[in-house]
Amino acid sequence: MLHGADYNPEQWTHMPDILNDDIRLMGLAKCNVMTIGMFSWSKLEPKEGSFDFGWMDEVIDKLYHNGIYTILGTPSGARPAWLAKKYPEVLRVRPERIRNLFGLRHNHCYTSPVYREKVSHINTLLAERYREHPGLLLWHISNEYGGECHCDLCQAAFRLWLRNKYENDLGRLNEAWYTTFWSHIYTDWEEIESPSPIGEFKLQGLLLDWKRFITDQSIDFMNQEIEPFKRLAPDIPITTNFLGGCIINYDKMAEHIDIVSWDSYPQWHGRHPDWRTACHAAFIHDKYRSFKPEQPFLLMESTPSMTNWQEVAKLKRPGMHALSSIQAVAHGSDSVQYFQWRKSRGGSEKFHGAVLDHSGHEHTRVFRDVAELGACLERLDSVIGRIVQAEVALIYDTENKWAVEGADGPRNPKLNYDEEVLHHYEPFWKLGIPTDVVSMDRPLDRYKLVIAPMLYMLKKDTVERLEAFVRSGGTLVLTYWSGIVDENDLCFLGGFPGPLRKLAGVWAEELDSLYVEDHNSIVMNGGQGDGLTETYSVSLMCDLIHAETAEVLAEYGEDFYEGYPALTVNRFGDGEVYYLAARTEQAFMDDFYGELATRCGIECAVRAEWSEGVTAQVRTDGTMDYIFLQNYTDREQLITLKEPVCDLEGAPAGESLLLPAYGFRILTKKRKTLKQQYRSAANPISNEPAENNGTE
Ligand code: GLA
Ligand code: ZN
Repeated sequence: MLHGADYNPEQWTHMPDILNDDIRLMGLAKCNVMTIGMFSWSKLEPKEGSFDFGWMDEVIDKLYHNGIYTILGTPSGARPAWLAKKYPEVLRVRPERIRNLFGLRHNHCYTSPVYREKVSHINTLLAERYREHPGLLLWHISNEYGGECHCDLCQAAFRLWLRNKYENDLGRLNEAWYTTFWSHIYTDWEEIESPSPIGEFKLQGLLLDWKRFITDQSIDFMNQEIEPFKRLAPDIPITTNFLGGCIINYDKMAEHIDIVSWDSYPQWHGRHPDWRTACHAAFIHDKYRSFKPEQPFLLMESTPSMTNWQEVAKLKRPGMHALSSIQAVAHGSDSVQYFQWRKSRGGSEKFHGAVLDHSGHEHTRVFRDVAELGACLERLDSVIGRIVQAEVALIYDTENKWAVEGADGPRNPKLNYDEEVLHHYEPFWKLGIPTDVVSMDRPLDRYKLVIAPMLYMLKKDTVERLEAFVRSGGTLVLTYWSGIVDENDLCFLGGFPGPLRKLAGVWAEELDSLYVEDHNSIVMNGGQGDGLTETYSVSLMCDLIHAETAEVLAEYGEDFYEGYPALTVNRFGDGEVYYLAARTEQAFMDDFYGELATRCGIECAVRAEWSEGVTAQVRTDGTMDYIFLQNYTDREQLITLKEPVCDLEGAPAGESLLLPAYGFRILTKKRKTLKQQYRSAANPISNEPAENNGTE
């Protein structure tokens, strides 16, 4: 397991003793990796064409001789002042068409040939210099790619991108963007401008294509950064650290790197209960893990104590540091890394948490927490490389998010797509059921259950793929506000949910929008084996649907549409499709998905009983399961185990165990053979005799 941090030794070259002290302390903290170089350009190239790698050589050598590997960052995230002064084209232009001055970071044009050339040059020097270094583990490309530039170079590149997409046919673009509306017909490619608050910002087709272009242009820039490494050091893998929120389509970007990594900063002990914060963090871990589900990802950054940018950043309560770090491992990370190793003395991040505080020594609570976690990670060698095998997939699609949230109506303020998807994720987190979070383009055949909340936009082959999944026995859940538009945000004609209508077996005639304080209800009729008989509250949006071929499982309880279907199921091929017409209270989601998971024969991480705030995740190599029980409450929790499991050393864990406040336990269980799986499916509640559960 990797354990380490972002490290900026170049900030301390005037105090040469610090490097040795850092290395001693890294040993105490049981760190085996440091990420350097990410913001070092002005120290590496203090004057144009004059390079100084001496300090970096010393750092990488010393780290290596003390058992610490290097993840080497490229410096493109922040450029030297001389570069911006001499070549103003490298600086970003805002949507208002104002060019930024030098300053901050992430302030560069992705198109500028000068910037690309300068980045490529310094990356080539890094590749040549360090490719043979035995301490080099990974290339870390730039920092949290995101943002956009509206300069003339970017406008030209956008027009070229559009010409390619629409095969030089402006008529096709006009059709796709529906430009007869408000007299927007373009007669020349040069008339097209990127979206701007002082120009066009409501033409959905343009907005979507611009966002797609930004993603492609960022990827193109990244690929130019990567080129020298692939050419000169093809054996060293490549990563880039993703931000928590997908502002560009990271799913697409991930196809161009070897290892997915991301920076996680949940607001622990904030306004929400910690378990809810944990559930949200788990969702993002799963989302990024699912970019490459066959391999682990890396937690590239997290804070060992607090951040300096959240509204209120409370200190992690005792236990939370280890728990939140282990959470990443539970969801498939082979690392726990921090921003940052040593707190800077100045600059805007001088109050951001770090392993070493300004006090400069190891006798702090944070340091002890980090060192203890390091010792724990050292015991997890057997978990390295294990993956999460999910039987459930939740569709979360960045382009769908752009489309849903970009549209005016049906409700304003705009719909919150992330919140909607999380609403469906929560029951699985509570039950400890591994879940992949995938875009609508990913393969679905490996899953038993696929949930596609608010599938507003349908891409070209989405419907065929969903139909194939259900036809061969899969279970699909669809919701209101689905099947509304195609990839260009043009509404489907002939009745919603558009091309999903046959699959869902319903026609959605109208959609009622509710004020936040308004409620309606859905009354379950207890039909079709879903077993639910209660009444649940619904809010926000109520779809008025007609069951065509679907069977009705619940009806609205109030208003003029009392008695209209609110939940239906449609048999299609060997599978079934549920259609949930309204935003329900969480209790419904918990009950509904609890029943559905059982019906679909979906396995939890471990069969056990626990209370709110506790969960479990599992990583496996197909033979041995590593189960991570986690308690996100400030109280001790009793877990009743319903199947035999062992601890990491192979000793039986017993029938119940106590998790301390913010505590966790890692357990092991031998995977069932196929024969055993069939037997337990026939008799799900029987406790089977313990097999050899020890680690092997
Ligand atoms: C991001 C950046 C880091 C640092 C942290 C602070 O993740 O990558 O350089 O600014 O935020 O939380
Ligand atoms: Zn630009």
